[in-house]
Amino acid sequence: MPLPARVRLVEVGPRDGLQNENQPVPTATKVELIRRLGVAGLRSIEATAFVSAQWVPQMADSAAVMAAIERRPGASYPVLTPNLKGFEAALAAGATEVAVFAAASEAFSRRNTNCSIAESLARFHPVLERARAAAVRVRGYVSCALGCPYEGHVAPARVRDVAGALFEAGCYEISLCDTIGVGTPGATQDLIGCVAARVPRAQLAGHYHDTYGMAIANIYASLQAGVSVFDSSVAGLGGCPYAVGASGNVATEDVVYLMQGLGIETGVDLEALMDCAEWISDELGRRPGARVTQAQRGADSSGRRSTEVEPTVREPATKREPHR
Ligand code: HMG
Ligand code: MG
Repeated sequence: MPLPARVRLVEVGPRDGLQNENQPVPTATKVELIRRLGVAGLRSIEATAFVSAQWVPQMADSAAVMAAIERRPGASYPVLTPNLKGFEAALAAGATEVAVFAAASEAFSRRNTNCSIAESLARFHPVLERARAAAVRVRGYVSCALGCPYEGHVAPARVRDVAGALFEAGCYEISLCDTIGVGTPGATQDLIGCVAARVPRAQLAGHYHDTYGMAIANIYASLQAGVSVFDSSVAGLGGCPYAVGASGNVATEDVVYLMQGLGIETGVDLEALMDCAEWISDELGRRPGARVTQAQRGADSSGRRSTEVEPTVREPATKREPHR
C-alpha cells in the first residue's frame, strides 16, 4: 500500500501522559502545555479526562482545564469519558469531542473501568446517543490490542469484535492501543488486517506505547498497512495507572521526525515541539523521553543538557579546568 502524503497526529500528552503522574500537576501547567502544543501545530489535543477522581486523581481538575484552555481555530480538544456522567460533565465544560474506551481483555476492562467488556460497551450506547443529539464527535479506544498485562496474548479477533462494536455504535474512528507496548510490526499488521474486516482502515488509528522500543516500527508497519492517524505524547510522557510497567506513549517528536524523513506532512513544527517537550519535562523534573529531543537538544543518559555535559575525556579531578 502506498504511504500517505499526510498523517493526523492525536496528541495525548495532557491526558494519557499526565494521568499517571504521582505528584499533582497544577492546572495552569496543563493549560500551558495544551497552549504550547497548539503553537507547535498540533490540531488534535486530548485535553483531559472526565473520569472518577477516586480512580485517577490527576484528572480531577478536568472542568477547570477545559474552562481555561485557549481553543485555536481548526483545533479539536477531545476528552475521555467512561460513562454518561462523564459525558454530561464534559459537555457542560464545553467539550465538542469525546473519547470512549473499551478493552480487548476482560481482566484489563475490570481493572480500568470496574466492569466487563460487554458492560463497558453497553455503557457507551447512551453516551453515543447523547453525543449524536449534541453534535459531539466520539472517538473510540480499544486497549490491550496487542497484549494485556494480566492475560498476556490477545487474539486479534477479540480486538476486531470490540473495535467493530464501537464503530458500529457510532464512533467515527477507532484507535487500536498497544497499552503495554509489547507489539511488533508483524503482529501490528496482522491486527490491522483482521480489524479491517469491521472497521475501514481509513477509520483506524494506532496508539502505541514504547515499552519495548517498538512503537516507531509499529507506526511504520501501520503506515504500510493503510493507517494514517497516530496517537502520541509529547516527550513520551505517560503510562497507564492500570497497566503497571507500561511506559509512555511513543513520543510525538519521534513520530514527527519519522514522518519528516518519509516526506509525510504532519503540520507540526519540530523545533517548537521540542521547546514544548523541554518545557514540560522541566516542569515535571525529568529529561525529555523522546530520542529526537535527546539527540538534538543534547541530554546525556543522566538527564543533563548539553550545556551541563562534561568533556568526554576528563582530566584528573585535581587538575580540572572548565572546558566551556
Ligand atoms: P465505579 O467505582 O465502578 O463507578 O467506577 P461508580 O458508578 O460506582 O462510581 C463511583 C464514584 O465515582 C461515585 O462517586 C460516582 O459518582 C463517581 P461517589 O458517589 O462514591 O462520590 N463517578 C464519576 N466521577 C466523575 N466522573 C465520572 C464518574 N463516574 C462515576 N465519569 C468508573 C467506574 C468508570 C467511573 C471508573 O472505573 C473510572 O473512572 N475509570 C477510569 C479509569 C481511567 O481513567 N483509566 C485511564 C484512562 S484509559 C487509558 O489510559 C488507556 C488509553 O490511553 C488507551 C491505551 O493506552 O490503552 C485510553
Ligand atoms: Mg494510552
